[in-house]
Amino acid sequence: MVFESSVRYVAEMIIESKKTVALTGAGISTESGIPDFRGPEGLWKKIDPRLVTIQSFRMFPEVFWYFIAERFESLMKAQPNKAHYALAELEKIGKLSSIITQNVDGLHFKAGSKNVIELHGNMREAICMNCSTIVPMDEALKMAKRNYYLPMCKSCGGILKANVILFNEPLPKEAIEKALCESRTCDLMLVIGTSLQVYPAAYMPAIAKQRGAKLAIINMEPTPLDDSADVVIHAKAGEVLPVIVGIIKEKLMRAS
Ligand code: APR
Repeated sequence: MVFESSVRYVAEMIIESKKTVALTGAGISTESGIPDFRGPEGLWKKIDPRLVTIQSFRMFPEVFWYFIAERFESLMKAQPNKAHYALAELEKIGKLSSIITQNVDGLHFKAGSKNVIELHGNMREAICMNCSTIVPMDEALKMAKRNYYLPMCKSCGGILKANVILFNEPLPKEAIEKALCESRTCDLMLVIGTSLQVYPAAYMPAIAKQRGAKLAIINMEPTPLDDSADVVIHAKAGEVLPVIVGIIKEKLMRAS
């Protein structure tokens, strides 16, 4: 299927869909200047992912705060790109039920999306490993810099951790349950900017497919689910999604 017809086909699928859900990954934020993890310039090509397991955090929290701190600062300055705004527009016109995101950058919220399920937590805040007190991230980063990259909880003296899910750490129960419910009840899942290498996020499209949903994958590189998808577009999300939303709005306007 050539590019134009694939884009048109995804637009048709969304128009006909009763419930469309999007699963997004780091690839949707690269056009906002945030590197992804496994793409050609991915973060895991520069930082050893073993640095961001919950075990390594417990042993060397300062290392986490030192190496990761500047990433959080650049994340906080990042702005949504056309792909984020396109999904927010889809939600606004009633054609997107929810976004299940693996991203911690908060850019879907910044773009105006409301129903966003953050599977891997968020970088807006830090959490005390002892008493679960929540602290805004900018406050935690200031404390980290003032205290040799070891921010401590003001309530109990426990160590603060960014409220993002590290490798080998359980995912937030409520987020998982909501994501599973959305995946089981949608009739179309848009899979955008993810290599589908990390579970349980990567289960969601398979669960949707199992329940009879259609799959549309928009990703720069091939993914393990390409063969079972109804349509695959290997292109930039920021280029494809605005065109899809434009086609949908034009068709809905003509039909009204
Ligand atoms: N448009 C579309 N796809 C893109 C774009 C873009 N502009 N930029 C990059 N991509 C693709 C890359 O080709 C890659 O296949 O997005 C995918 C991003 O994959 P990963 O870097 O593996 O990111 P993700 O799938 O979100 O990783 C999942 O792994 O490291 C953990 O917790 C981390 O949430 C992350 C999880």
